[in-house]
Amino acid sequence: MSFETPKRALLWGGATSASQYEGGSDMVGKGPDTQDVRPFRPRTSKATTETRLLTKSMVSEALNSEFDGNYPFRRGSEGISHCEEDIALLEELGIDIYRFSISWARLYPTGHEYNPSPDGVAYYDKVFRLVRKAGMRVFLTLTHYAMPIDLVLSDGGWLNRSTIDCYLRFAEFVFSRWGNYIDYYLPFNEINAGYFSPWNGVGLLKPEDGPYDQSKVFQSLHNQFVASARVIQLQRRIAPDCKSGCMVADFCYYANTPAPEDNLRLIKDEQINQWLAIDVLARGFYPSYTARFFDEHGIKVRMGENDLELLAQNTCDFVSISYYQSSVVSCDDNGPQTAGNLVCSTVNPYLASSEWGWQIDPIGLRTALNVLYDRVQKPIFVAEGGLGARDSMVFDEGEKRVHDPYRIKYLAKHFEQVIEAQKDGVGVLGYIVWGIIDIVSAGSCEMEKRYGVIYVDADNEGNGSYERTHKDSFWWYKRFIQDYHQKAQATIKEQD
Ligand code: BG6
Repeated sequence: MSFETPKRALLWGGATSASQYEGGSDMVGKGPDTQDVRPFRPRTSKATTETRLLTKSMVSEALNSEFDGNYPFRRGSEGISHCEEDIALLEELGIDIYRFSISWARLYPTGHEYNPSPDGVAYYDKVFRLVRKAGMRVFLTLTHYAMPIDLVLSDGGWLNRSTIDCYLRFAEFVFSRWGNYIDYYLPFNEINAGYFSPWNGVGLLKPEDGPYDQSKVFQSLHNQFVASARVIQLQRRIAPDCKSGCMVADFCYYANTPAPEDNLRLIKDEQINQWLAIDVLARGFYPSYTARFFDEHGIKVRMGENDLELLAQNTCDFVSISYYQSSVVSCDDNGPQTAGNLVCSTVNPYLASSEWGWQIDPIGLRTALNVLYDRVQKPIFVAEGGLGARDSMVFDEGEKRVHDPYRIKYLAKHFEQVIEAQKDGVGVLGYIVWGIIDIVSAGSCEMEKRYGVIYVDADNEGNGSYERTHKDSFWWYKRFIQDYHQKAQATIKEQD
């Protein structure tokens, strides 16, 4: 019996999502989706919440608006008109795997159609072909936050079980047409976002006054769980070689103090915020802690007769996380708070933060991977990670350049910890750098919060040439991937 960890070379990738990257919302055949109606608001503490949790009146205002400058997702990074150039840049970068998503509303403008829009099909035919030709593997997200707005306004989004059927039609088309190209896929991006950000996650309108009804939130999430299981069932029938996954935003919680109350709070927050979706989708059951949480919060979820059996029989092949920062939980709600991806956190005095307040913690990534692997024992992808920062383009010796040493440092430190996690025995498959080409921020609708190693010349108001420029991090990442694979090959040979 051997305790040797099976070694395989990690995959290094880059990611975008359709709504943040593509633009082209006015193209023939594309229907408006839930991201096209999110306005940009200059940064204030309230701006992110207001533009993330949309009410009916905000949506009507957006749909009646002729002026598209305030709705950055309608323009994205003008990916549609730059896609050949962008995929060539990714090939030059040398990434192993490209994660992107399909815009549901570009294929099915209202979500109710039976046949997809030919223009949308032609666009994705081209993307899949180019990515394959460039030698990259495909990591597909079927839906990354955006859904046809019609499904929200006339059907109630994911609250309505009929949305599952519309979604399955879309998924069936994707797998029958492009299944041969897809290596890994996710039915939903960060499925736990439905809980923190119900507009993005589950297409739920926020009541004009007051908070969301939690029963509606968890009912919508349940419907997405069922949709995930049904998509996996369908994919296994029509495109059996694709590997199915699930994904959550990982918050890597620490307790603020060793006080037992803080530690219990940590466990309880983790259960609902992070593990619930993983337990249902990767382990195949609603965990026992759900009952008390639902009870205490007056949450009622209606389930179909066969739902639990369906979930148990169609668990995913791998799990994935986005990881940007770690978080601290405390029973003292008055401690200093800072922002993070989807959740706020008590400030951790041991960590530096990004300009947006997200607490930078490479070791936390190794911890998160170890903890998750212990729980699920399935292969793990870091499907997203990176540093959102403000970059400036400068002219050096007549050449356009972007010097981003902070991003290089962030990525280098995080990559190191992924490699360490693999040495710990974690079955980690790879790390995918988020927003590899600058894209619109999902949280705050800004262009100036950039993650890319490829700079896009555009500002928050949509001004700019949208020209692409290599950042210093591009050359660093390219070199890193080359060196890594050279070393990995040598090590794997030695082990053989
Ligand atoms: C994840 C999302 O939550 O975080 C991405 O899946 C998003 O869509 C990323 O862009 C970074 O967040 P933000 O708000 O900085 O764009």
